Amino acid sequence: MKTSPITKILGIKYPIIQASLNWLTDAKFVAAVSNAGGMGTLGPNAGKTSPDQDATEMLKKQIAEAKKLTDKPFAVNMIVNSEDDFAYPDKTFKAAFDAGVRIFILSGAINPKLFKEIKDSGSTLIFRELNPSVEGAKKAETLGVDILIATGYDEGGIIPTTGLGTFTTIPRIVDAVSIPVVGAGGIMDVRGVRAAFALGAQGVYVGTRFIVTDENRTSYAAKQKIIDSTVDDVVLVSPNQRSIKNPMADKWAKEFNNGVKDTYQQTREAGGVRPAMLDGKLDDGVISIDVGINDIHDIKSVKEVVDEMMQDFEN
Ligand SMILES: Cc1cc2nc3c(=O)[nH]c(=O)nc-3n(C[C@H](O)[C@H](O)[C@H](O)COP(=O)(O)O)c2cc1C
Repeated sequence: MKTSPITKILGIKYPIIQASLNWLTDAKFVAAVSNAGGMGTLGPNAGKTSPDQDATEMLKKQIAEAKKLTDKPFAVNMIVNSEDDFAYPDKTFKAAFDAGVRIFILSGAINPKLFKEIKDSGSTLIFRELNPSVEGAKKAETLGVDILIATGYDEGGIIPTTGLGTFTTIPRIVDAVSIPVVGAGGIMDVRGVRAAFALGAQGVYVGTRFIVTDENRTSYAAKQKIIDSTVDDVVLVSPNQRSIKNPMADKWAKEFNNGVKDTYQQTREAGGVRPAMLDGKLDDGVISIDVGINDIHDIKSVKEVVDEMMQDFEN
């Protein structure tokens, strides 16, 4: 049986973290992951059903609700757009900290002021650089980050523009630092978990596979669409985003291939993943998934996913 320092650092049973899935997260889902022995994560628009709702107020409600559903730890994710991006992630951090959250996952740029604030609060800090780099990993380590996430191009969501796959990214980051590294990108089942650990990861960060679970709030239509699709149905809709084909994705893919530079902005203006994935309007917006979807054949419970992936670990 394997063990990992991640479980001790986070106070969880298994070294599996549910990746931030933005709109597709809520208290029920996150609590289900934590109750299954992993660590759930509330994403930036957790629990919201409309862009008009205030994200911070909704986050506070989701944290309170999750605390009713689990006594296990869960995290809150914030996106940091640049080295100077402080005000918004700081507001989210303070709201979540006041509500009792003590584990934070920052995705994006390194903002030393924010990192220091989170570490000074006594919280645990997990960092995911969008384009994982040796330089960024080393800097994050010196700033007191507890766990690094090494994400490969195989992932769903906003993908690394470097194009480096999960198999090259994990060992590159593992070899650069002494802190534990969690692997992400295309991990669909226990084979992916074993591969990540063989490459030196000490945990896994799983997004797409968790979308197709009973407890996830993604629409049934989108879950079924993922099951019915293969990687051959996937297109790049912008330099850093892929989608299952639909009329909008096809249009963006064509424009992107023809050199129109603002397709990312267009995907955002169309609501990103919300219309198709949350609302079930499959022809609208982005159906964001990783390149491992061939291995998703059915809707499982969160616990089934965790148990299958974590079968080598002590329980
Ligand atoms: C629909 C969707 C939404 C995502 N939203 C976020 C987000 O808000 N913040 C973030 O850091 N990562 C986000 N991600 C990326 C995940 O955190 C993670 O890197 C990725 O899902 C892991 O790879 P996998 O999907 O291959 O398991 C998202 C991914 C997907 C599929």
